[in-house]
Amino acid sequence: MGFARFCLFLMFVSSMVFMASCSKTDGKKESLGRGLKDAYKGDFLIGAALGRPYILGQDSVADMLIKKHFNTISPENDMKCELIHPEWNKYYFDIADKFVELGKENNQFLLGHTLVWHSQLAPFVTKITSADSLRLFMKEHISTIVGRYKGKINAWDVVNEALNEDGTMRKSIFYNLLGDQYIIDAFRLAQTADPKAELYYNDYNIEQPAKRKGAIELIKKIQAAGIRIDGVGIQGHWSIRGLPLEDIEQSILDYSALGLKVMLTELDITVLPNPWDLRGADVNQNFEGSAMMNPYPQGLPDSMQVKLAMEYESLFDLLVKHKDKVSRVTFWGVNDESSWLNGWPIRGRTNYPLLFDRNYQPKPAYYRVMSVKDEEKRP
Ligand code: G3I
Repeated sequence: MGFARFCLFLMFVSSMVFMASCSKTDGKKESLGRGLKDAYKGDFLIGAALGRPYILGQDSVADMLIKKHFNTISPENDMKCELIHPEWNKYYFDIADKFVELGKENNQFLLGHTLVWHSQLAPFVTKITSADSLRLFMKEHISTIVGRYKGKINAWDVVNEALNEDGTMRKSIFYNLLGDQYIIDAFRLAQTADPKAELYYNDYNIEQPAKRKGAIELIKKIQAAGIRIDGVGIQGHWSIRGLPLEDIEQSILDYSALGLKVMLTELDITVLPNPWDLRGADVNQNFEGSAMMNPYPQGLPDSMQVKLAMEYESLFDLLVKHKDKVSRVTFWGVNDESSWLNGWPIRGRTNYPLLFDRNYQPKPAYYRVMSVKDEEKRP
């Protein structure tokens, strides 16, 4: 880094530390001022995935933050098969009903996550061995759930994570018994159950060229069958080691060219090393308790706060550049403490992947994301 850039970086660090230290006083203005959803109004929706405590309103501070910053919400786990449809003839809608109630109260765009996914399936589904039984499950599961929330849930992640990293079809129970026809069937069933709900394909790493190619082929198959697909969700589980901005931009262009809305549906940026980052590491090695893999148990150093802020800023600069193609950005959690990344891929770590800290205070990354819109306005 040249001397001039280093000076600039130091100035940036000190300004970040100052702004973060002001967050207390700003906090008061912040609670009366505009939130993320206001700053990006007219560009794209801004949302968060809600765990059960937030859906049930068990945290009043989080409740205020959710109301203030997000105009769309997604259920992190409570509409997944294992929880909403635990036995063949048994559905559990209490939490999903509360989710819909909360979203309506806050006038938020509601996501249904997710109808067909190989993970978090109820045990009875994993035991299905015949194509006819699996077709019957899909028909009942999708028709019952989408039908119940017809006109209330605005959009569905109809199929989640159907692809391998090389773009081929994941050998899930759905593919093994029904071939790739299951994807078309899932979208057709959802469209029938609620003709007005938006229907999405959702996956991680589909900004990567090979997987993006597979996703495009999958989307074209749905469209060729005359079935509606309205959008594609790039999950956006990225790392502070560097966001694939060129791949993200190319993906926004390529998916949009298919006539689809493009969304970031599960955005977070891990600040911790992972086994696969370690050259030659055995990714199956159990790193639980390893200080090397959990370097910031007492707090994130300013230098890492600044790096995280810069990664988020570069991402939102790109999203604003393509605001005509991007319809939604959903963070996968409300604050650092609620992030799934504190427990994955290694349990018991302290991660800092989101815009709000463990006290629900805005982090430097929040201010950089907000400043993208201020800078956009500067002549
Ligand atoms: O509900 C049980 C609880 O009763 C039990 O005491 C506890 C003990 O571990 O487990 C609880 O279930 C956990 C569940 O989250 C609800 O909290 C599961 O163990 C845990 O594995 C599950 O993790 C979720 C993960 O999906 C499962 O694959 C994460 O919270 C959730 O953020 C994550 O979200 C997925 C998206 O849906 C799809 N895209 C990838 C993303 C990350 O995996």
